[in-house]
Amino acid sequence: MSAEMAIDTRGLSKHFNGAHAVRGIDLQVPRGTVFGLLGPRGAGKTTTMRMLSALLLPSGGEARVLGHDLEREPQTIRARVNLTGQFTHVDDTLSGQETLTRVARLHGISGLGSRVRTNTLLKALGLLEAAPRPVKLYSQSMRRRLDIAASLVLPPELLLLDEPTEGLDPLSRRRVWDMVRALRAEGTTVFLSTQQPEEAEQLADRIAVLEQGKVVAEHPLLGDIPPSLTDQRTTRPPPVADRSLD
Ligand SMILES: Nc1ncnc2c1ncn2[C@@H]1O[C@H](COP(=O)(O)OP(=O)(O)OP(=O)(O)O)[C@@H](O)[C@H]1O
Ligand SMILES: [Mg+2]
Repeated sequence: MSAEMAIDTRGLSKHFNGAHAVRGIDLQVPRGTVFGLLGPRGAGKTTTMRMLSALLLPSGGEARVLGHDLEREPQTIRARVNLTGQFTHVDDTLSGQETLTRVARLHGISGLGSRVRTNTLLKALGLLEAAPRPVKLYSQSMRRRLDIAASLVLPPELLLLDEPTEGLDPLSRRRVWDMVRALRAEGTTVFLSTQQPEEAEQLADRIAVLEQGKVVAEHPLLGDIPPSLTDQRTTRPPPVADRSLD
């Protein structure tokens, strides 16, 4: 396994009481790239991401994350990797601004540094106007964007985004895409899951297609995407193979 890789897995698998959720996957994610895990509902995306962020114990196989062994150094991995989940966990009573300020304080950022960072994120994710309002008044899309902003107060070396644009309106989706591109430009490795081929094509340097816990294709042409995913296709961006891969 190579230390050049942000993520390197061999035969990674997970079963829940004998039901196989992830069936031995090999993934190599070079540092500084965006990797797209594309798969339909129940494919095993969240299970994979929870294992890679050391929140869930694998049933088999091995993995190195940022050079650390998942089995031997789970705490180091938990400290260095950020997973922004499908389900947001924000305190309803705080405002958006307070939420980010609190996260900044937890990272040891305060005063002007905190204000600049939180305002930049609120603006980039279209939340500046809503920032003083309590989160309990936020729509689902606003909560999700706030959750993403919170994970970026201190950009991690490796960010795992589990379906970051699920349920977002087109403008919010665009904002999240821009944010992912900006992170990549800053050198953050991003591992994101999605059910939308277009999203993977737009953002990812490399793509793995996951179906029923197995990688069935890697950085494919759109024509190679399994039929179960193609009904969600809306536009036809240039195939990944035509773009320069790092
Ligand atoms: N804690 C659990 N206990 C039992 N089965 C589980 C558990 N978590 C996931 N599974 C099962 O594992 C399989 C993969 O689930 P997972 O949530 O990883 O898929 P997913 O690709 O993230 O789906 P979605 O697009 O709906 O989020 C599913 O069949 C699911 O029912
Ligand atoms: Mg999921």
